[in-house]
Amino acid sequence: MSGANDPYDPKQVAALSAEAHLASQAAQDKQDAPLIDKGRKLLASNECARCHRFYDAGKAGAAPDLTGYGSVSYTHLTLPTNYPV
Ligand code: HEC
Repeated sequence: MSGANDPYDPKQVAALSAEAHLASQAAQDKQDAPLIDKGRKLLASNECARCHRFYDAGKAGAAPDLTGYGSVSYTHLTLPTNYPV
């Protein structure tokens, strides 16, 4: 199974995972470059960008902007700010 309805679609996972640009994952990202490229095209397509923003594709709406997914700045933006610490 693959495509938008499969949350484990390898190209989707590889592209989202690469968005954090983790140093510890650089070798894996380099090896997965063709898969990541396909995943980025999927993220920028209507399958995702009709709800999400991804770089220049789509526009911000109810769904989170997936640019930089998993990075420190992304995580800062998406963490709830109202939980007790
Ligand atoms: C019909 C609208 C819609 C489409 C199409 C859609 N999404 Fe989403 N997505 C959402 C919404 C709304 C949320 C936020 C859900 C929430 O906050 O509970 C979300 C959440 C997510 C999240 C979690 C974000 C986070 O902060 O943890 C990821 C990852 C994601 N979508 C990826 C995708 C991918 C990849 C595609 C295309 C294959 C896609 N989505 C297509 C509406 C959509």
